[in-house]
Amino acid sequence: MSEAARIQTPVELAEDELDRSLRPRRLQDFVGQETVKAQLAVAIEAARSRREALDHVLLAGPPGLGKTSLARIVAEELDVPFRQTAGPALERKGDIAALLTALEPGAVFFVDEIHRLPRALEETFYPAMEDRQLPITVGQGAGAQVITVELPAFTLVGATTRAGLLTTPLRDRFGIQYRLEHYTPEELARIVTRSARLLEVEIEAEGAHAIARRARGTPRVANRLLKRVRDYAEVRANGIVTADIAAEALDLLEVDELGLDRHDRDILRTICEKFGGGPVGLSTLAVAVHEESDTIEDVYEPYLLQQGLLERTPRGRATTRRAWEHLGLKPPESAGPSLF
Ligand SMILES: Nc1ncnc2c1ncn2[C@@H]1O[C@H](COP(=O)(O)OP(=O)(O)OP(=O)(O)O)[C@@H](O)[C@H]1O
Ligand SMILES: [Mg+2]
Repeated sequence: MSEAARIQTPVELAEDELDRSLRPRRLQDFVGQETVKAQLAVAIEAARSRREALDHVLLAGPPGLGKTSLARIVAEELDVPFRQTAGPALERKGDIAALLTALEPGAVFFVDEIHRLPRALEETFYPAMEDRQLPITVGQGAGAQVITVELPAFTLVGATTRAGLLTTPLRDRFGIQYRLEHYTPEELARIVTRSARLLEVEIEAEGAHAIARRARGTPRVANRLLKRVRDYAEVRANGIVTADIAAEALDLLEVDELGLDRHDRDILRTICEKFGGGPVGLSTLAVAVHEESDTIEDVYEPYLLQQGLLERTPRGRATTRRAWEHLGLKPPESAGPSLF
């Protein structure tokens, strides 16, 4: 089933709605990622003053760090239309042709999850990206002819959680490439404060920090936690999010001081207890924790790696001493020194 056809749960729909309502609209509202913002501002300004389409942009990074937001901001700042699709939604060459030929001049064409574009379709993008040309085969058999359709100037913005899965020829066609990194607690506190204002939640600075510290470096998580903490503050207190209320609410949600939730801890605990700390292969681990390998790799692992709780070795995933300590477990004596 294609991604577009996948039925979303009510929770996912509510999260999408939250994403939309809290999404920063302009570069100046986008918190953090200072280098990316500074470079992008120059590129946008230059493209605007030359009245040219901006170079194609590739945005890579873990989920919820602002790739979609940034793609929209690019269109907003360039003052051009924003059109979007996603890799898995494109199944035939005709799908791409229909979208590309319908673009307004200068438009931003956003392809989310571009690493999931079918390989056979990638080649259609090459001439479109390089020369704004789209070769189309008309007719069949011996009478088939290739005609070339000229496309308007456009900017392809690709987003991916897995830049490593992109083929080199595709990646090389993006003139601008950024990797979004996890946010600092200070940046997340600014995001929480901004979101609280938009949601009309009364929050103290320390309350915002308490949420930020446990948001696993991710704005989407910070916003989601803010909503849950707001519920708690309304039901159990006077609605004001203080540091204490935030801490109580987050404890109830089983989000710990490092920002790990039950699933994160389950992954670490499984490696420690079932596999002696690893290394264990990704697919074996996935089966043991009842998750998809992709989900572990895209959603859970980046933060665990960044926190120094997990290591990737050629033979699989291994927990670090910090992970054992965090879980309150005693590391085995035999664990190799390289892991610590
Ligand atoms: N730099 C930021 N400043 C303020 N809010 C942000 C920032 N980055 C992300 N957000 C918030 O987090 C939400 C999720 O961001 P976004 O949808 O852009 O992430 P994404 O990288 O596209 O995630 P995915 O990989 O899951 O598609 C946004 O709706 C926005 O509210
Ligand atoms: Mg997105």
